[in-house]
Amino acid sequence: MLADQRHSPPRALPEPRTMTTLREQHEQLRHEITAGSRDAVTRQRRLGKRTARERLDLLLDEGSFTEIDMYRRHQAHGMKLGGNRPHTDGVIAGSGTIGGRRVFVYAQDFTVFGGSLGQAHAAKIHKVMDLALAAGAPLIGLNDSGGARIQEGVMSLDGYGGIFRRNVQASGVIPQISVILGPCAGGAAYSPALADFTFMVRDVARMYLTGPDVVEAVTGQRVSHEDLGGADVHGRRTGVATIVHDDEESCLGDVRYLVSLLPGNNLETPPSLPRRGAEADHRPWLAEIVPVEANQPYDMRAVVAELVDDGEFIEVHEHWAQNVVCVLARVDGEVVGVVGNQPLVLAGVLDVAASQKAARFVRFCDAFNIPLVTLVDVPGFLPGTDQEHAGIIRHGAKLLYAYCEATVPRIQVIVRKAYGGAYIVMDSRSIGSDLSLAWPTNEIAVMGAQGAVNVLFRKELSAAADPEVLRAELAGEYAEQLMHPYYAAERGLVDDVIDPAQTRAAVARGLAMLRNKRHAQPRRKHGNIPL
Ligand code: HXC
Repeated sequence: MLADQRHSPPRALPEPRTMTTLREQHEQLRHEITAGSRDAVTRQRRLGKRTARERLDLLLDEGSFTEIDMYRRHQAHGMKLGGNRPHTDGVIAGSGTIGGRRVFVYAQDFTVFGGSLGQAHAAKIHKVMDLALAAGAPLIGLNDSGGARIQEGVMSLDGYGGIFRRNVQASGVIPQISVILGPCAGGAAYSPALADFTFMVRDVARMYLTGPDVVEAVTGQRVSHEDLGGADVHGRRTGVATIVHDDEESCLGDVRYLVSLLPGNNLETPPSLPRRGAEADHRPWLAEIVPVEANQPYDMRAVVAELVDDGEFIEVHEHWAQNVVCVLARVDGEVVGVVGNQPLVLAGVLDVAASQKAARFVRFCDAFNIPLVTLVDVPGFLPGTDQEHAGIIRHGAKLLYAYCEATVPRIQVIVRKAYGGAYIVMDSRSIGSDLSLAWPTNEIAVMGAQGAVNVLFRKELSAAADPEVLRAELAGEYAEQLMHPYYAAERGLVDDVIDPAQTRAAVARGLAMLRNKRHAQPRRKHGNIPL
């Protein structure tokens, strides 16, 4: 007998194996797993972040969360991992409801190995993605992770590959939402990039392929985490973040609102609410929001607010490519996607970023049976070498392609200007809009009056005694003959010229008319959208 054993108290006998003791042990273990490490939780709070479980509590209906794989642990050895095998493996996965509707979720837990992704962690995410796809319900991922778990080597990378493949298989089948609530670095950033919506929270969220240290080592440039890949960088400059929030609570509240507007999958229609009498809802002040003069700015969002139920909408990419506005909202209880040119920014022209933003939004709505309402007030594509050399032809083609391909009900409302190629691209009748409505103030034409006269009457103008008087006279003639909605309406390109006050009613009637629209596309593997 060893000296220290001699003095130790007698060893406690193992507890008898009864239902009571087993249940107590089970409860104790679950309590320990859900409580996590106190030090790590304290550190998480110091970083200004909630724990993964607190986040799920904010996101899901109370008491609705069913967790799976709580007991899962990694099977790796070496590099400090061998004796350290916490349950959950750094990600909480399962299913719950939002507003009573089923969703599948995973929330990375930074308090366990920095939320890093190893084989078991990835397998849990794969499982929940597979379940979401099988059950036809939205997938929501809350990201807070140091990326690939370094100690697990290539198995971590393999885990990411499995996530990306599932993201793509689920694309257009179930809505996918990524919420970035901490670091999301390296290749890990590609899962949010493949999702339909990416939310970011200021000060805590950061996304980049290579962090500030690598940037400095390779380029010599010093940059902070926030300036390299913070929420505002991605919300304003890159378009990677769809929606940006100041805090986790408002962010997760907004995710709940978004989910309330989306169908569970591509075979369902979005959840509708009771009709609101919109078909007889006249809004006389719409005519006051939009100035008649084509060059006067106004906020297209004010028009949207008059069009949709209760003036309520969720705007995607609010701070990126602001010359086009994309929102989800309801009209007469039915969910719609609204795309509108924004005369407040760059006079509402289409450019590279606006084309990309609107194209992706149109494709999302089309994939999930959300009718499209397009509010047109567009002077054209943005001219200049910058845009041409940045590939406006290729990027503008994305928007054209997206509209041409869309089979959901499509309503175009021409609010004021509609010039040239941009008019055609903004869901004109000729590319497949189901209903085109125009206000009497419209200027629908190949180009504005001055430009047209300069091209058509160059010789006459240079020979005239007073070219300005002649130019004004000819421009007046051109406007009278060609720049009004009746020219297009007489030729069937506009289905009706409506009073501005009737816009909400006319759109609601149009949506009702098109509710059962069916449109089959020819069979093919997939199209070849210009990317
Ligand atoms: C293993 C990791 C980890 C990782 C963090 N941890 N990242 N463990 N693999 N990738 C651990 C830390 O060792 C630490 O453990 C705990 O998590 C908290 O991390 P800290 O560094 O203390 O936190 P903080 O100071 O807030 O910094 C967070 C961080 C930093 C910025 C994320 O940890 C970091 O730079 N991590 C490495 C990021 C990275 O390069 N990842 C690989 C990206 S490439 P202890 O035990 O001390 O608490 C990638 C490829 C994907 O992901 C490819 C897909 C195809």
